[in-house]
Amino acid sequence: MPLLLAKYSETVSVTVRVPAKVNAYLGVGPRQADGFHSLATIFQSLGVYDEVTVAAAGELSITAAGTWADRIPTDETNLAWQAAVLMGDRCQRAPLVSITIDKSIPVAAGLAGGSADAAAVLVACNELWGAELDRGELDSLASQLGSDVPFMLHGGCALGSGRGDHLTPAMTRGTFHWVLATFSDGLSTPAVYRRFDELRPDAEDPAVPSELMQALARGDAEALGLALHNDLQQAAVALRPALGRVLSFGIDHGALGALVSGSGPTCAFLVRHEAAAIDLVVDLMGSGLVDGAMHTHGPVHGARVV
Ligand code: C5P
Repeated sequence: MPLLLAKYSETVSVTVRVPAKVNAYLGVGPRQADGFHSLATIFQSLGVYDEVTVAAAGELSITAAGTWADRIPTDETNLAWQAAVLMGDRCQRAPLVSITIDKSIPVAAGLAGGSADAAAVLVACNELWGAELDRGELDSLASQLGSDVPFMLHGGCALGSGRGDHLTPAMTRGTFHWVLATFSDGLSTPAVYRRFDELRPDAEDPAVPSELMQALARGDAEALGLALHNDLQQAAVALRPALGRVLSFGIDHGALGALVSGSGPTCAFLVRHEAAAIDLVVDLMGSGLVDGAMHTHGPVHGARVV
């Protein structure tokens, strides 16, 4: 009997921990017929996590908690809501769940926080409903939700192609230390891509340079710092010129490399070790240029039941 009760209580609610990501390389090609750009990107998951709890309920709802709670929608515009609906359709059941998002990943920041929460809901509903969808099926649902969602399921370090949703694991060694400079005002991803189209009408199909792949495989932070690159950075800086000053500040204060993360505005700095990270966080916080700064590391695991 106690065993039965334990089993029952396990399926009443499920909590999934899901990390943020940085694109150590983001090569952007031309806009395709489907409206998306072809990408060649290196994703790395970072040790900043949202915790998403999904519980059986009378109706679908989202409650937000944590640092960035007041910044996320709690209706059907939230990708996590759409993930529950899509999973319900796939499992032929009504998505009667309450979703609680304990948010630590900055919002609209280029760190894929919304995609992370959607990936977490897929994993949580799969567990809660005993649906037993395999990785391939979850991947296919994830790519219907957004370009970054499949990577948020997997985590680690991966090469993303297509519109970012076709993943190949990337060889990587050890742990890289990052500092993230965050801003309270987000940037719109479609607006950044539109500015990219204006700035780079002649964009060609991108590829990740072999130097960067080798730096990852060797765990060589110096070489990776030199190879960091983001084709969206020019567009993000055009929309938010202050980001250029933040990137230069980080390099002047010891970072091995700096780039805008994804479509921004978060600026990511690769540093040599933890002590360098702590120094840079202090310097950035004192600079008056940023709203927040944090030390993190990668790669880490993707969405996992806790
Ligand atoms: O796939 P996701 O919903 O994250 O994309 C958000 C927006 O970013 C898209 O509507 C599109 O404007 C832009 N995007 C793009 N090419 C990609 C990924 C995203 O143009 N490969």
